[in-house]
Amino acid sequence: MTRNSSKLTAAKETPRAAERLLAWYDRHRRALPWRALPGQRADPYAVWLSEVMLQQTTVAAVKAYYVSFLDAWPAVGNLAAAPVDEVMTRWAGLGYYSRARNLHACAQVVVAEHGGRFPGTEAALRTLPGIGAYTAAAVAAIAFDQRAVVIDGNVDRVIVRLHGIETSIPLAKPEIRRLADAQTPDARPGDYAQAMMDLGATICTPRKPACVICPLAEGCVARITGRQDVLPVKVVKAARPVRHGSVFYVRRAPGEVLVRTRPPKGLLGGMTEFPGSAWDAVGDPEGAARPLAASYQRLLAPVEHGFTHFELVLTPFLATVKATTQAPDGCRWVLEEGLAGEALPSLMRKVAAAAEP
Ligand code: ADE
Repeated sequence: MTRNSSKLTAAKETPRAAERLLAWYDRHRRALPWRALPGQRADPYAVWLSEVMLQQTTVAAVKAYYVSFLDAWPAVGNLAAAPVDEVMTRWAGLGYYSRARNLHACAQVVVAEHGGRFPGTEAALRTLPGIGAYTAAAVAAIAFDQRAVVIDGNVDRVIVRLHGIETSIPLAKPEIRRLADAQTPDARPGDYAQAMMDLGATICTPRKPACVICPLAEGCVARITGRQDVLPVKVVKAARPVRHGSVFYVRRAPGEVLVRTRPPKGLLGGMTEFPGSAWDAVGDPEGAARPLAASYQRLLAPVEHGFTHFELVLTPFLATVKATTQAPDGCRWVLEEGLAGEALPSLMRKVAAAAEP
């Protein structure tokens, strides 16, 4: 439901809003490594790579990964030819690891079925592994200058405020899409999409939006009615459940540590981990099966990590075993110095940091 929409003219003004936004973008666009220079068309591979990385992850966290991927695999053919384990290792720390698997699968399909060139329409992009509605629209607009309605979390917030939508975002999705569509110009759709994202990231921020310098302030219902600090209305989120588990950091002199690879499917699929118990609601640090017989030291501080659907609290145990000790089934010894070259997710990096002498 739009507030006061008969009196206020935000929606009617949309062509002018798009113009104002593009003029603002021309002066204030963020310099980001995947962006083409003004007036130049971006490389579809670079745009796709950045958009996949940017799902669920901040621009600040993505920059170094993006540069490292392009450095290792400058074109889609290089990425397609890389072993998937190397892709997982380079992705380690970015989270949501099925994205990395799909990234690799997508590169292979682009090479095998599209002659190494990304298809240039939203519909064709949508058929590729790991490319959902958002990524297809973003790549079509940014890399191919196709008119596409690109809606991420920033755009949701901008549209809600601009039109004074008083329903929570999940419920308002169809209305947001309709209004975002009506507002998307035919000219410069890629710049427009990125301008909306930049506006949401730098001016129309979740807290304390900088309305005084906003190019859309004039027609913004939230601003005019003083609702910019209240909109979008919050959805009360259920607290995430907590799971508990134990993890064993076993050293073998000189300088090795015991690891294993997680099953390919599921949470942290195919990533490297230190052996440990299952994670459940209760946890049983003393009773959890040890990977090897040894004298274990329990660390007092647990390692905590937030996943999308639960919080994890791991109790770490340390042990050192003799240089001749064999790895148990399913485990292997790796050099501690070589851990950076393993597909070690952030959770396990925290465990390694906690185990540092
Ligand atoms: N977030 C997701 N994609 C983006 C882009 N192309 N520019 C800025 N922020 C983004």
